[in-house]
Amino acid sequence: MKSKASAPGKVILFGEHFVVYGIKSILCSINKRVTVTAEKTNERKISINSEIGTLVLDPDESITKINSPLKPFYYLANKALKDQNEGLKIQIESEIPLGAGLGSSSACCVAGAAAIFKVFGEISKEKILELAIEAEKTIYQNTSGADCTVSTYGGLMEYDKNNGFRKIEDEPNFQLIIVNSNIKHSTETMVSKVKEFENKNKEKFHELSNLESKLVNDVLKLIKENKIEEIGEKLNLNQKFLEEIGISNEQLETMIKIGQKSSYGAKITGSGGGGCIFALTNNSNLEYTLKEFTNKEYECFAAKIDFKGLNTF
Ligand code: PMV
Repeated sequence: MKSKASAPGKVILFGEHFVVYGIKSILCSINKRVTVTAEKTNERKISINSEIGTLVLDPDESITKINSPLKPFYYLANKALKDQNEGLKIQIESEIPLGAGLGSSSACCVAGAAAIFKVFGEISKEKILELAIEAEKTIYQNTSGADCTVSTYGGLMEYDKNNGFRKIEDEPNFQLIIVNSNIKHSTETMVSKVKEFENKNKEKFHELSNLESKLVNDVLKLIKENKIEEIGEKLNLNQKFLEEIGISNEQLETMIKIGQKSSYGAKITGSGGGGCIFALTNNSNLEYTLKEFTNKEYECFAAKIDFKGLNTF
């Protein structure tokens, strides 16, 4: 018995960091996917293979003793196998750059949960999401679950800490140029950096949070109306707020300037300090924007919104 599933990565369009303080954010699935294949084996072993390495273990190992980025897959496989006298062979293929804030680990957890559990029978999307979030917690305890949620359901989503997730049903017609700085960053370090800023500049941070909140609400209306130029302006404004809270740097800003000149708008996506930026385009400026980055030898690609979310085969 073999099963296969794929799930998309994401960008944070608006609201990163402020979301930690209760402000609404907007997330967007992108058409870059992780595909996971799971197969039952006679030998009672869990074997996981991906571009980043291989992990072969007996079932029932203590999860805390495993030091591997493939740990979430082991967690899922072990849970699915329970006491059965069989094993699982898992193969992972990914189009999403790793560690760049594009939700590759969440997409792995979603596609992994679906492929692994489907070997043993039908399972609902809700249950897959629950398992994916559990699996993600084996590597990032404080996950909000937002990335796994958008990867499962696809499209656009608003998220805030108090009200949770709400799928945005509009299907705006834009494309993103995603550019990787290839600068390693840690979400935890960047979140602490912002906390420090907030501690030292309470009033300023409060003011910026209010501005961000208003901006996100304005954007939700603009998405409904498919007003791409105005959405671009809001991206540039959001970028300014991110610069003020100290998560930008010279290299990122050089990239953002290229994006802002050639497209409708550009900003950091995710925790900043490194990782990716994106520029907002449509058919009229997509090729031109892509060329502006490739001419300067940046690692970049065009991405559409993925409206499908989790897909099982
Ligand atoms: O880890 P990233 O780069 O996808 O972004 C994290 C988003 C933050 O708002 C910075 C942190 C969070 O937990 O929401």
